[in-house]
Amino acid sequence: MDKLLIEGGARLNGTICASGAKNAALPILCSALLSAEPLRLTNLPQLQDVRTTQRLLRELGAEVEADAETGTATITAATLTTHTAPYELVKTMRASILVLGPLLARSGEARVSLPGGCAIGARPVDIHLEGLRAMGAEVIVEGGFIHARASRLKGTRFFMDTVTVTGTENLMMAATLAEGTTVLENAAREPEIADLAACLNAMGARISGAGTATITVEGVDALHGADHRVLPDRIEIGTFLVAGAMTRGQVTVRGAGSGLLDAVLRKLEQAGATVMVDDDAISLDMAGRRPQAVDVHTAPFPGFPTDMQAQFMAMNCIAEGVGTVVETVFENRFMHALELQRLGADIRVEGNTAIVRGREQLQGAPVMATDLRASAGLVLAGLVADRHTLVDRIYHLDRGYERLEEKFRDLGAHVQRVTRAPQEAA
Ligand code: UD1
Repeated sequence: MDKLLIEGGARLNGTICASGAKNAALPILCSALLSAEPLRLTNLPQLQDVRTTQRLLRELGAEVEADAETGTATITAATLTTHTAPYELVKTMRASILVLGPLLARSGEARVSLPGGCAIGARPVDIHLEGLRAMGAEVIVEGGFIHARASRLKGTRFFMDTVTVTGTENLMMAATLAEGTTVLENAAREPEIADLAACLNAMGARISGAGTATITVEGVDALHGADHRVLPDRIEIGTFLVAGAMTRGQVTVRGAGSGLLDAVLRKLEQAGATVMVDDDAISLDMAGRRPQAVDVHTAPFPGFPTDMQAQFMAMNCIAEGVGTVVETVFENRFMHALELQRLGADIRVEGNTAIVRGREQLQGAPVMATDLRASAGLVLAGLVADRHTLVDRIYHLDRGYERLEEKFRDLGAHVQRVTRAPQEAA
């Protein structure tokens, strides 16, 4: 199993390009199921989760021509051969639930394995199911599968009790082919939802308000083919900027877009960074200064993203002062705290709050990745720890970061992928 070996101490300096957003790519790939005509995508990140989604679409009968080199794919779901998303695929990627809405809307029936729990909490899908029921579907959960049926979904007004990203996406996709108008209230406002809506509208859907808490979808009879470019990955961008801040360096991310990560940039400025944003790039400069500890409180967009929480906890571990990290989105997302303690971090966890007292120096050690963003936090800590840090189970990282170690190396970090632990890090 691959591991990442990091030799800490290098100050990051340089420019990298942002990849396409995983969390936009996955729902957009699934939206291809809504049309019999080809959906042509560019700026697709080459990630395990993207490959898993493409496999799932093929399994359902879609033709997928993907070119990993150029980050393009054409998906044609001319006919669907099955309406079942099997457990073997869904268990490897919770986002597989995103085929539920499109499958049901397109073929009148969907059987999708229940995703089950995951390392960062229970993550139920009750709101996805309630929303589909409100649109007239018959939905039962049996034998570990969600089984939904509706000859044609009907537009409705639906208030979501909890702000859910994939829930909003599933219902928005389903509503495109419903009879009449659907209004989704208390919808998630993440930029990836607006990107999905842009793609669906290019396919002939009639969606307004995506990116706000109220989304209106006027159902149409069919969607057609389209071309769409996936938006940049704000979590990847944020991760590299935090790496720049932690190493007291200077990092520019090109192709970053603006307005995608304001809450994160504000926190980096509070930490002492000079941040410059223009149309195409975000630059961060620490001018050799040690970061100041910052308080972080995760919340749905436009609040501070839970997917950046582990990275900021890592920064607080070596910052000047004490920083408090409050996780409000997921109930069990502090597993990286224990691993950071193995590197010498001073972290006290009380419920959903972690109090982090910055240390001058962390010490390299073998650590274990537990989920995608937790792994990113460990890699960042490794960049500033002395000697070597060996991060195990990096298949989590490969699910969400494209060419991670290459990009870090481009910035001057000493990071390499290994299959066996060298003596000094074992
Ligand atoms: C998406 C992102 C993930 C990010 C998360 C929060 C994708 C593919 N993944 O995950 O990277 O960390 O948003 O920004 O886009 N909930 C319910 N009932 C439901 C659905 C959700 O109670 O039916 C709860 C969850 O348990 C969680 C909260 O709502 O506590 C937010 O979860 P949600 O926004 O659904 O996360 P995902 O869409 O799974």
